Amino acid sequence: MVWPMSNETHFGFREVDPSEKQGLVNEVFSSVAARYDLMNDLMSAGLHRPWKDALVNTVNPPRGDQPFKLLDVAGGTGDVSFRMIEAGGAGTRATVCDINAEMLEVGRQRAAKMGLDGVVDFIEGNAEKLPFPDKSFDAYTIAFGIRNVPRIDAGLKEAYRVLKPGGRFVCLEFSTVDVPGLDKIYDLYSFNVIPAMGRAVTGDAESYKYLVESIRKFPRPQAFADMISAAGFRRVNVMPMTGGIVALHSGWRL
Ligand SMILES: C[S@@+](CC[C@H](N)C(=O)[O-])C[C@H]1O[C@@H](n2cnc3c(N)ncnc32)[C@H](O)[C@@H]1O
Repeated sequence: MVWPMSNETHFGFREVDPSEKQGLVNEVFSSVAARYDLMNDLMSAGLHRPWKDALVNTVNPPRGDQPFKLLDVAGGTGDVSFRMIEAGGAGTRATVCDINAEMLEVGRQRAAKMGLDGVVDFIEGNAEKLPFPDKSFDAYTIAFGIRNVPRIDAGLKEAYRVLKPGGRFVCLEFSTVDVPGLDKIYDLYSFNVIPAMGRAVTGDAESYKYLVESIRKFPRPQAFADMISAAGFRRVNVMPMTGGIVALHSGWRL
């Protein structure tokens, strides 16, 4: 079944217009940028690290010195790109593309500290209209980003457009918890602990309330896999992790 393309867009639990959603999402990330990395570790109890490692392993960049170009969309402060560079060989290069200048600035400063200037680039751009030519990347990743993009189908079509034939699409996103008991604990934690933690660390509980609500409005794993197929990708695969708290969706441009 193909996921019905509805015009409904949500900001958390609120139904909004797609252009209004992007403005609200941008406010969220501008507000949390400076403390984003710290909050990621706190909120996920460090689990975002093994989840991102699984994403990098799925992309499996070459260990040799052959050229390999990664595009990491909604790449924020550069976490996935830094891990990919560490895993790949001398020919691996990464471009972080994000719509939010504050998140990118934190990423640039991290890259400079790590000596990765010129190895990881930071480009401001919208996932729905990427500022790159057709067929220009070997892999496209998006981690905890796609649910923030107002028109997911437009974002997926752009992913397909910029990938070279033979290129890999890999998306890491919060998903649907499918372990009885864990769902209740997860709900309690998400709706109570996370906004409180957000208030304590960033002074902004509302942004974290949005992040939690947006997870619940995201399509279920098979529905999202159908959207990926509808964008043209083949051999689409879903791999739930940690009882479905997150899932890796992948596909190939053939
Ligand atoms: C939760 S953060 C994820 C950052 C990073 N990928 C990570 O895993 O640490 C979501 C990112 O999506 C970005 N974003 C939201 N809408 C976007 C869009 N339409 N195009 C590109 N980036 C977008 C935000 O600015 C933010 O940096």
